[in-house]
Amino acid sequence: MSCSIIVGGFFGDEGKGKIVAHIAHADKPVIISRGGVGPNAGHTVQVGTKEYGVRMVPSGFVYKDAKLCIGSGVLVDPRVLKHEVEMLGVKGRVFVDRRCGIITEEHIARDKGSAHLAKKIGSTGSGCGPANSDRVMRLSPQAKDLPELAEYLMDVPKAIDDALKEDKVVLLEGTQGFGISLYYGTYPFVTSKDTSASQIAADNGVGPTRIDDVIVVFKAYPTRVGEGPFSTEMAADKSDAMGIQEFGTVTHRKRRIGGWDGSMARYSAMINGCTQAAITGIDRVDKACFGITEYGKLTKKAKDFLKQAEEDIGYPITLISTGPELTQIIDIRDEHR
Ligand code: IMP
Ligand code: MG
Repeated sequence: MSCSIIVGGFFGDEGKGKIVAHIAHADKPVIISRGGVGPNAGHTVQVGTKEYGVRMVPSGFVYKDAKLCIGSGVLVDPRVLKHEVEMLGVKGRVFVDRRCGIITEEHIARDKGSAHLAKKIGSTGSGCGPANSDRVMRLSPQAKDLPELAEYLMDVPKAIDDALKEDKVVLLEGTQGFGISLYYGTYPFVTSKDTSASQIAADNGVGPTRIDDVIVVFKAYPTRVGEGPFSTEMAADKSDAMGIQEFGTVTHRKRRIGGWDGSMARYSAMINGCTQAAITGIDRVDKACFGITEYGKLTKKAKDFLKQAEEDIGYPITLISTGPELTQIIDIRDEHR
């Protein structure tokens, strides 16, 4: 059996979706189940020339042979879910734990209408903060209370347990990133829940002793969207000049770009219980590395960067993404097994 968690090591948008999609094709999980806050998350997955942005459905959807589950810790917006299931044609493969909290129109109005959340914190306006607040107050409906979700309902922890007992592979995907964890991030400029690997296990009802690997995803040039401290942030004209520009999947806001943060990477790896790390965007360290699929073909500049990053993180870097497309990746996990 093998159960791995994939989480973001910086402020979100590290490229977890692409890493999950790659691992899924390589390791053939029977279940890909997501944790994290809810539809404030945006994953972009590029397959060939087609780009998909998803907020509710696990980003592993591109791997066709896995059940796609949403763990009980996650907030579900039934409208977003319905839209994505139709857009992606994944009906019959998507399951929602019956205990998931529900986001209502009222939660969205409260999120967008709140000067504190929308302006000071720079929330995504997806209703997650108010919905988690209602959930803590024991006021929130659950997935099982909504007739339109009846066809998706599942006991996700039980399905995962069954799969693991049959010696199958299960992937648990995190959302957001370490720096916006309610517990460990830059409070109050954080999201409405912890985002570390322990939380992702809890979100899916998987006990800590059942986890074999925690893969923490870092991007060579971290980004942050929304307000809050970002110690390695670059001036926008500098990152623009480097050709680095990113826009949020959910809000389309321009992302703030920063340089590699070794001390944050180390602390994040520690709290996440990292066993292996993934680095995305190595082609931004050296453009000559774009699309490379073998470690030996990386340039010295890229290898030097990876050596320093591995020293900072304190755990082996086993996955290196060299471009946005699914196949543009170096996978040296075998060398560390
Ligand atoms: P909220 O989670 O919508 O309440 O937003 C709180 C803060 O977390 C804001 O700065 C958001 O931009 C940020 N945030 C929430 N989810 C994500 C994500 O998936 N990626 C990156 N930033 C996020
Ligand atoms: Mg994102």
